Amino acid sequence: MARAFNVKDLQSQGSGNIGATNVARVAGFWPAGFLTFLFDFLKGALAVFVVSFPVFQNWWQNFWSQQSSYNSQIGMNTIWMVGFCAVLGHCFSPWVKFKGGKGVATGLGVIAVIAPIAAVVGVLGFALCFFKTKLGSLSSITGLIATATAYLVEKPSQEYGAYLWIGAALISLIIIRHESNIDALLSGSERKF
Ligand code: G3P
Repeated sequence: MARAFNVKDLQSQGSGNIGATNVARVAGFWPAGFLTFLFDFLKGALAVFVVSFPVFQNWWQNFWSQQSSYNSQIGMNTIWMVGFCAVLGHCFSPWVKFKGGKGVATGLGVIAVIAPIAAVVGVLGFALCFFKTKLGSLSSITGLIATATAYLVEKPSQEYGAYLWIGAALISLIIIRHESNIDALLSGSERKF
C-alpha cells in the first residue's frame, strides 16, 4: 500500500512499522493510512468470517473431528484459532521477510466478526486516547484493553471456553509487537502522530 503512495522503503522510515500509522506518517497523507488499515482489517475479518460461515464451519469441524453434529465449543475454538493465525501471519509475514506489522488492524478485524460490540468499545477507547494524546501506540494498547474488558463483561462467564486462552494469546502477541513502542512511551520518546 505504501508503494502506491510513493513510499519506497517504509521499513526504513518513521517507526519502521508497515502498519497504518506509519504509512500515514511517512506518506504524509492520512487516506494512505486509512486504506492500509482497511486492507489489514479485512485480512482478519474475512478469515474469521469465512470460517464462521455455517457451511464452512460444519465442513471444517467434520474435517477435523469426524463428527457430524455441530459442537459450538469446538466451533469457537476453531474460529479464534483462525483469527489468531491471521494476526500471527500479519505480524510475521513472509512477504516482508517475517518482519510484519503489530497486528492491531488485523486483530480488530478478527474481533469485529467474533464480538462486534467489544470491537466498537475498542475503537471508542482508541479514539478517546488518540484524541487526547495523539499517540498511535498508546491508543492501540488502550483500545486493546477496552476490547478485552468489554468482551469479558459482555459474555456470561459460564459460556467461557478454551478459546479465551487463544484470545489471551492474541492480545499478548499484539502487546509484544509493541515492545519498542512501550519502551519509547516509558522513556518519553514515542513519536506522536
Ligand atoms: O498499531 C500500530 C501503532 O500502534 C503503532 O505504530 O508506527 O507508531 O509504531 P507506530
